[in-house]
Amino acid sequence: MLGEGLAGRTAAGPLRVLEVGAGVGTMVERLWEWDVLPETAVEYTAVDVDEANVGAIPDRLTAWASGRAVTARAGGGTVELRGPGRTVTVDPVAAEASAFAAGTDREWDLLVGMALLDVLGVDRVPGLVSAVAPGGYWYFPVTFDGGTRFVPDHPADRAVERAYHRHMDGKPGGDSRAGSHALERLRTAATTSVEGVAGSDWVVRPDGDGYPGDEAYFLGYVLDTVEGALGELDDHGLGDTLDDWLATRRRQVESAELTYLTHQLDLLGRVDGSPA
Ligand SMILES: C[S@@+](CC[C@H](N)C(=O)[O-])C[C@H]1O[C@@H](n2cnc3c(N)ncnc32)[C@H](O)[C@@H]1O
Repeated sequence: MLGEGLAGRTAAGPLRVLEVGAGVGTMVERLWEWDVLPETAVEYTAVDVDEANVGAIPDRLTAWASGRAVTARAGGGTVELRGPGRTVTVDPVAAEASAFAAGTDREWDLLVGMALLDVLGVDRVPGLVSAVAPGGYWYFPVTFDGGTRFVPDHPADRAVERAYHRHMDGKPGGDSRAGSHALERLRTAATTSVEGVAGSDWVVRPDGDGYPGDEAYFLGYVLDTVEGALGELDDHGLGDTLDDWLATRRRQVESAELTYLTHQLDLLGRVDGSPA
């Protein structure tokens, strides 16, 4: 649906994409691999508040292109990806997302914010969407929506999940139910409509022979993150049970028994109006 809509927007010139919270540029790779970007010229502005992330984008995309039918040419801070029929020029920008959107007089055909709204804040959504041209699209995939589960069960699971989400909610802009809240905000907005919503949950699990790839490393990182978050609360309310929960979960990673599930929403919509 998104690919077809974008293909219809290229008559007037290059397709203009703004990604906020772009990290190290993985969404560029995905949109290319999924064939969502039209076979034309694409100007892709990749904004992230973390300078190290945006600084890594040219090298990462150059490495991604090698071994594919894609030629990468980095220079002057940008990277140009050229493949059959399609040229994507990625311009990495170190900036805060809302400040960037508010401070530009440019408009975009597509706004992307992946795994961002739970840290940015749903209140910022209208400001971001106002940078989209009439008839253009917004896409907020993998928006966290209040589910953090570990199995097998441990008696402290619910208390850990509640404390972890409380920590998220206490951060400036933090929202452990960002997916539902963004959906409601966008559904009721006057100048845009929601075109599609679906779950994009993660299920990280062992198969019959242990974890298939680097899941153990990833799960170790997740457990460190939970431990760090609960450690920042004045009182996580678990007492010594937290130590047992963490030790049990780490043992279960080592023995490839732990499954981790999170609930997220993909949100896609369109700003009212027709392209100029
Ligand atoms: C969970 S990561 C997602 C990265 C990327 N979208 C992906 O899915 O691979 C969130 C990213 O948002 C960035 N970020 C957080 N707050 C931001 C803000 N206010 N403005 C711009 N970027 C922000 C972080 O630096 C981080 O790179």
